[in-house]
Formats: sequence, structure tokens, C-alpha cells
Amino acid sequence: MRYSILFFTPALVALAAPGAQIEQIRNIDWEYELLGNKSPLERRARSEKSLDAIFKSLGKQYFGTCADRNLLNNAQNAEILKADFGQLTPENSGKWDTVEPTQGKFNFNDLDFLVNWATTNGKVVRGHNTLWYSQLPSWVSNINNKDTLTSVIQTHVGTEVGRYAGKILQWDVVNEMFDENGGLRDCVFSRLLGEDFVRIAFEAAKKADPAAKLYINDYNTVEKGASYKKTTGMISYVKKWIAAGIPIDGIGAQAHLMTGEAGNVAASLKLLCAAAPECALTEVDIVQASAADYVNTVKACVDIKNCVGVTIWGVRDPDSWRAASNPLLFNSGYSTKPAYGALVQTLGSMTATYKPTSAAPTSVAPTRTTVSTTPVVTSVGTTSIVATTSSYPDATSAACKVATVTETVYR
Ligand code: XIL
Repeated sequence: MRYSILFFTPALVALAAPGAQIEQIRNIDWEYELLGNKSPLERRARSEKSLDAIFKSLGKQYFGTCADRNLLNNAQNAEILKADFGQLTPENSGKWDTVEPTQGKFNFNDLDFLVNWATTNGKVVRGHNTLWYSQLPSWVSNINNKDTLTSVIQTHVGTEVGRYAGKILQWDVVNEMFDENGGLRDCVFSRLLGEDFVRIAFEAAKKADPAAKLYINDYNTVEKGASYKKTTGMISYVKKWIAAGIPIDGIGAQAHLMTGEAGNVAASLKLLCAAAPECALTEVDIVQASAADYVNTVKACVDIKNCVGVTIWGVRDPDSWRAASNPLLFNSGYSTKPAYGALVQTLGSMTATYKPTSAAPTSVAPTRTTVSTTPVVTSVGTTSIVATTSSYPDATSAACKVATVTETVYR
């Protein structure tokens, strides 16, 4: 039997005979009453079962993923982004070959599209990336003059970061600059400028957007173990650069994992995170996506106080850059895989005992403001259901923007 929410208020419950009324409350399908006209994914987004919501209630800033215009225009993919993820990283649209394919001719069409989509949908953005040896146009890699390269870096980084000033939470300013021995990778930047290109790039980014958190990002820094040369090399360089006043705020660890590497993440990430004010897992995907590997990897960030967020490198296996390894949380049918459920279960159970030791880190755009929490509690089996009232300033539907909506929260 269904009861209309319009005729049911806490006041009426209080006046009624307790036994019979409690029995009636038990019979109400609350989820249907409150969210009956919403799709299953919208329900997830509006409940504390969303991975992003769980992550935030563990004191983190976001649980994110990557996309670009094609995947944002894919309705099924977009629904999952809205429901599960709180942060978007441009998979390719922020890279040098897209943004400045010819010197001085900037193209921000696809990056604008992503930033606007994120803003409209209440997601924060990780900018990726301003300087990388790969996806770099030949007009840059062919430069052979130090001063020319310096001013090209300053213009490129300053223009890209400046365009989105105030709208980007974190920027990967320098990407994949280390070799496997922990030294500087051989590329045009290190060949002409030595390690000074790091200072030039970070200072240009800082000037263009003083509020964004500026990251140095790399792979094989948590994959291979805490004593791996690339990990220890990155740590000593970053410590030295921060001590010298280079405005590096964070270390990003990509975490493109092979089978069996997840066990290395916690110890390596702990060392990396101790070397900078903040850190993040920025491109997580795991060959064959074992549930235990995903839990170990993501939990490593949860367990480190200054690890502010995790980004999964894509939504659905066939859209992954490593599609053949099925490394993501959703299958080709847009359904969740076992690793997804394991994350919800493990992280969700941690929220019950989580105690913030200091104020949770702030993010650029809040996705939800709770304006009233007068709980109406009943129980269905062993699950308690609490009705709370919230407003969603970021909601796309006009109804959600103007009115307060009521959601069902499972505790
Ligand atoms: C990858 C993208 O996912 C692919 O679509 C593209 O063809 C190549 O780049 N490290 C990074 C990311 O920093 O930018 C890369 O993304 C994956 C490895």
C-alpha cells in the first residue's frame, strides 16, 4: 500500500496511537514516496550511497573520474557521472596538442565544454595538464633555444590556467617528468632548461590562478613499492623544490595498476603524501579490476589525512584507454562491477566510525546544502531510514533548484 507523502507529516505521527501508526510507517515504501519518479541513478546520487557522497563523508574532497565532450554527451555515461562522481578531469582536452596545436592559436572548445558541464552539475575539476612530454605538438619539441622555450612555457601555462582561474580545484602543472630511475626524463624541457622548467611552469600557473592547488603528477610512483627509485627520486626532488619556494601544493600518483600491484600503494602513497602539503590518486585503473585491489588502493588514500581525493580513469571498460584489461568500475552495459560494490561496502562502513580530526578540506563548488534535518525514523528489516530535507543549488532540474527536496538516507 502506498501513502502519499502530502498526507504524512511528523506532526500527524506524533498525534496518532503509537503502535498502529508505527506499523503503518513500517509499511510505507519511503524510497518510492520520496524518489519514486526518479531513475535508479538519480536515486543513488541523492542518497548517501553515492561513492562521492561516501568519500566526502570520510573527510575527502571528491571521488572523481575523467571524461571529455563525447562521454559527457553520452546520456548513460553522463547519468553515472552525475550519480557517482564529484570531480571531472579532462581526459585529453586540456593537453598541449589540443589547447595550443599551433603557437599562439589556442583552442579551448572542448575544455570549456567540460568545465561548463562540471559547473552546471556541481562537480569540481582537476585540470590536466599544462606541461607533458607526450601529446606535445612538434612546434614545441623542436624548439632549441632556452629563452624561447621559457617564454613559450610561460604563455602556454599562463593562458590555460588563467582562462579558468577560480574554476579549477587542482592543476596537474607538470606531468610525467621523471624517468624510472628517479631522474629527469629526457625531453625538450629538461634538455634545454634542466630542472628549472619546473619552477618556470609552477610560477606561471601560480600567477595565473593563485587559488588552484598545483600538482606534480606521475606514474609508477605507487605501483612498484616504497623503495622504487622513481618514488624516492620524486620525493627528494619535490621536497627540495618546495623548500626552494616553488609553489607545488600536491603530488599526484596516477596509479595505473597491474595485477598484484595494489599491495604496494599504501606504503608508497604515505611517503609521497608526506613530501607535499597534499596528495591525490589521480588516474586509477587496475587490470581486471579485482574488488580487493580497488579497495586496497582507494583505502590507501582514505587512510592518509592529506590525501584529498581519488580519480578513476574512466567510467566504463570499453571507453578506457586500457579497454582490453577491463580495468574500471562499470562494464560495457553501464552496470557496476564487483569492485564498485566492494568500495561502497567497505568505505560506507567506515563512515559510521569516521571522526574528523580537523575541519574537512574545502572544495570549490559544494554539491549540496542541507537546510533542514528533522529526521522521521522508522525501520524496514534491519535498515533504518531517515528522511532529511536538502536543497541542491547545483541541480539541473528547475524543480530541485527552487524547492527543497526530500531525500532518503540510509544509515
Ligand atoms: C591517456 C588517455 O586516456 C587516452 O585517451 C590518450 O589516448 C592517451 O592519454 N597518463 C596521463 C593521461 O597522464 O593523460 C593519459 O591519458 C594516461 C597516462
